[in-house]
Amino acid sequence: MNRQFTRTLVTTALPYANGPVHLGHLAGVYLPADIYVRFNRLRGKDIIHIGGSDEHGVPITITADKEGISPQDVVDRYHTLNLDAFTRCGISFDYYGRTSSKGHFKTAQTFFQEINGKDIFIKKKERHFFDPETKRFLSDRYVTGTCPICKNPEANGDQCEQCGTHLSPRELIDPRSKLSERVPELRETLHWYFPLGRFQERLENYVSGHEDDWRHNVLNYTRTWLKQGLSERAITRDIHWGIPVPLDNEEAKGKVLYVWFDAVLGYISFTREWAEKKCEPELWREYWQNPDCRVIHFIGKDNVVFHTLMFPAILMAWNEGRSDSLYSLADNVPASEFMNFEGRKFSKSRNYAVYLGEFLDRFPADTLRYTIAMNYPENKDSDFSWSDFQNRTNGELADTLGNFIKRSIDFTNVKFNGSIPCECSEEDWGSLGIDWKKSFEKLEKAYEEFHFREAVTLTMQIARSANRYLTDSEPWKVLKTDPDAAARTMALSVNLCYTLAIVWYPVLPHTANRIYEMLGFRETLDEAIKSGNVSWEMAKSPGLGKGHRLSGQSGILFRKIEDKDIAPELEKIERLVAGIERKEKGLGESMNFKPEISFDDFLDVDLRVATVTACEKVKKADKLLKLQLKVGSETRQVLAGIAQSYAPESIIGKNVILVANLAERTIRGELSQGMILAVEGNDGRLNLVEAQGSGINGKIVQ
Ligand code: MF3
Ligand code: ZN
Repeated sequence: MNRQFTRTLVTTALPYANGPVHLGHLAGVYLPADIYVRFNRLRGKDIIHIGGSDEHGVPITITADKEGISPQDVVDRYHTLNLDAFTRCGISFDYYGRTSSKGHFKTAQTFFQEINGKDIFIKKKERHFFDPETKRFLSDRYVTGTCPICKNPEANGDQCEQCGTHLSPRELIDPRSKLSERVPELRETLHWYFPLGRFQERLENYVSGHEDDWRHNVLNYTRTWLKQGLSERAITRDIHWGIPVPLDNEEAKGKVLYVWFDAVLGYISFTREWAEKKCEPELWREYWQNPDCRVIHFIGKDNVVFHTLMFPAILMAWNEGRSDSLYSLADNVPASEFMNFEGRKFSKSRNYAVYLGEFLDRFPADTLRYTIAMNYPENKDSDFSWSDFQNRTNGELADTLGNFIKRSIDFTNVKFNGSIPCECSEEDWGSLGIDWKKSFEKLEKAYEEFHFREAVTLTMQIARSANRYLTDSEPWKVLKTDPDAAARTMALSVNLCYTLAIVWYPVLPHTANRIYEMLGFRETLDEAIKSGNVSWEMAKSPGLGKGHRLSGQSGILFRKIEDKDIAPELEKIERLVAGIERKEKGLGESMNFKPEISFDDFLDVDLRVATVTACEKVKKADKLLKLQLKVGSETRQVLAGIAQSYAPESIIGKNVILVANLAERTIRGELSQGMILAVEGNDGRLNLVEAQGSGINGKIVQ
């Protein structure tokens, strides 16, 4: 950041209201954003955190269809669930909106109209699958069929879950509509495209302006796109769930805005709604349309180009030719890598996840916040494990921070009547072995540059020094021989509690509030920060003088996590992993076995060993090879779809397995007299099944 800003707008990626948020989402986006925002609030900065639910998109309609409920029911459920989990976790949004709100429809439609009015969109007709029974165009995910690569008969139109290949629906073999099981037809349909290419140069300039302050991963993803050259992207869809294209004509009928076009604009709608709620309806402009405001988008790495190219281009399109109401582009987009869970990717479809709400039913928010912040996936993927959670909670939070606070407060309560017995001198403050000035400089820099792991580590070092100081000073012994020295120790220790309440506030807000309460303050720390009674600066020197009264209460800040507390979680993972591995090995239900046949049916198949004597490519068919086989005294010609796995000459001489009594077929004008067997590798490569052994005579035992 090389500019001074007077305000900051922080946004967090809007989670789809199609499922519960899990720890991976928390780690990459919401916790770092909250830590950053709380830190800045402490520093007295004007900063707001805007988030909300992304309530459009095809996955929501699929969930609704699956469960036999309406899309509205789906988004109502998950909006409430996620907002509740975030609140319990202490994610302090200034506003948490929904893209189904009226205000948001208006924002998105106004943007469309403005850009349409400038003739920036391109309209194009294309052929898409259409379900003749339900009379609906089918988005990619509504088409299913056989995967051309692995032959999984249940592949989705956008991806085959079995082999992971990205597909387009027209590549599927025997495509079917998920709505009716009917064979879909290709029909022409019109869509609006956003010409990203038109903004190529402006986007390049925008991105190069941030070479020094954006993360490598963000620059890399963005540059890869820029290098390939930006092309137009469809921003409308033929589905029934979404924001209608705001044009009053036949062409626009039944069409909605593409979810990504509307979702990013949610940030703007929700800032407006926030301002309206504050009864200052124009205030949102100070954040979006005043260049003195710094806009920061916290996102995961899978959302990068939408925030560094798509959204900026949409705003550029709005700004084009205008002299007022110009929108600011993001100053930074701190995208995270992913946090894995016990060494594997989170997977909603496999239920391999820990959902935030469920976690908080069992363990306190701050212990989670701490462990997650310590594993913030800043530059590379990180991992959450239950044992790490247990170790950090017990060893760092309970034994270090919790232990120090409890001993300081309890001893002062019991031996000094719950009040600070003397002034804490600057000299005592300095005797702790902490270079306060340097520590705070480092800490502030770490927060400002989004190095949250470093910030939390540095904060824990302050707690560690305090804990060591108290242990080494032994006031419980010294009290008998030198009461003044013990008093000085406690004056310093209680002041350190105050400092720790402040410095831990961004990461451990619940704990910080409790410490603050033990220290005898009536208002909560949250309130004190809001009203300006407490600020970050106040952590830097002793703030509580002689005679300051504590509340007289203390308590355990962190309960230790026993093996038995996490045992059920570990068992659950073991079960899930066993299931996943079964699936990966092809043992699970995803095998899709064909219907049973009789033993005699099997014996009817005549399998033989055959030797390849010649082989060549089939013209104009990039998958087919034409093989000449010798089976005993006979020869056969067989076409096999293995050209992408074998060079023709490389298979001459191989002993392969031939289905010898298959009806002849003509493929691409060539006769094929049988089939040969091959197995598929994980990478999609085919491997011929070869007969091995000595004295092969062509017979196969069935
Ligand atoms: N819902 C999207 C996702 O979970 C993120 C949307 S971010 C926004 O991947 F900017 F569009 F809001
Ligand atoms: Zn496949």
